[in-house]
Amino acid sequence: MSISALGKAVSIRALDKSYGATRALEGVSLEIAAGEFCTLLGASGSGKTTLLKTIAGFETYDSGNILVDGADIGPVPVSRRNIGMVFQNYALFPHMNVRRNVAFGLDMRRLPAREIETRVEEALALVDLGAYAERLPRQLSGGQQQRVALARALVIRPDILLMDEPLGALDKNLRQSIQLELKRLHAAVGATVVYVTHDQEEALFLSDRIALMDKGRLIQTGSPRDLYDRPANRFVAGFLGECNFIPSEGGEIAVRPEKLRVGRQSAACDQSFEARVISVNFMGRGFRVILERGGTELAALTDASDEIAALRPGDMVTFGFQKNDVMDIAAA
Ligand SMILES: Nc1ncnc2c1ncn2[C@@H]1O[C@H](COP(=O)(O)OP(=O)(O)O)[C@@H](O)[C@H]1O
Ligand SMILES: [Mg+2]
Repeated sequence: MSISALGKAVSIRALDKSYGATRALEGVSLEIAAGEFCTLLGASGSGKTTLLKTIAGFETYDSGNILVDGADIGPVPVSRRNIGMVFQNYALFPHMNVRRNVAFGLDMRRLPAREIETRVEEALALVDLGAYAERLPRQLSGGQQQRVALARALVIRPDILLMDEPLGALDKNLRQSIQLELKRLHAAVGATVVYVTHDQEEALFLSDRIALMDKGRLIQTGSPRDLYDRPANRFVAGFLGECNFIPSEGGEIAVRPEKLRVGRQSAACDQSFEARVISVNFMGRGFRVILERGGTELAALTDASDEIAALRPGDMVTFGFQKNDVMDIAAA
């Protein structure tokens, strides 16, 4: 596909940024490989947008460096960074049709009309909107408008594509279908993607690597499985997925709900206990069971068996887990 651009590596080194007394970024260091899909994940206010804006050049920083393929981009003006951006509020030009919206970045670069036409066609085909070129933004659905915004970012063949909660305004089904589309596009286009979301499921689904942020700091970076199976601390364990913290001698044990076995299935576990049933809820694929033991509530995700269906609040039941499924995490 001729739209392909090989992505460039991004290296963020000891970046600091304050807004008055607010430290938005604190010693953030992150290496993003060329062509990688890297997600900045964190709660609102954790510094994700600030980091993205510093990469784009829309925001200054107090100290540190940002390198692209080894070169410091500090002195490079926004217009020369060859970075594509997509935001949550897609901000298409309302009076321009889809074709003109997508062509905008190429018009600005004063490319020959012929080439602009070809590249716009390619970009629209890539997001499956070839038939909508003459429409105005208000004649499109939210999902289609977001795909136009994506085409507009891709048409310049960016080395780096920055996306800030681009699906945040869409409903769940649409979000899932565009997530699939994003994965396909990333594979086709080959640009380095830095993606921002506060949605952990979205981060797990999309990313080669996740950088988890909290209060301006980078807490842990790794593949989705690294972070899920080997969280560095309690914060990561609780932020990505759900986690039970069971008090034990000398500390606590961290176990995911899907690793707890309830009822007969706990017989095969090397650790098992008694607990009281608080609630049992059918989730389609199985049950979500809340148990209480010694004042601690625990969540278990079980198969959809008749044995679990028959449990009532107040019943006593055994539950267990394998030593292997206990995650070794630090407190803090
Ligand atoms: N322009 C600004 N002026 C003052 N404070 C800001 C500004 N932009 C962001 N902040 C603050 O910096 C912190 C990080 O914000 P932000 O990067 O937008 O977080 P996120 O995108 O993760 O929600 C927050 O405490 C926020 O209030
Ligand atoms: Mg933000």
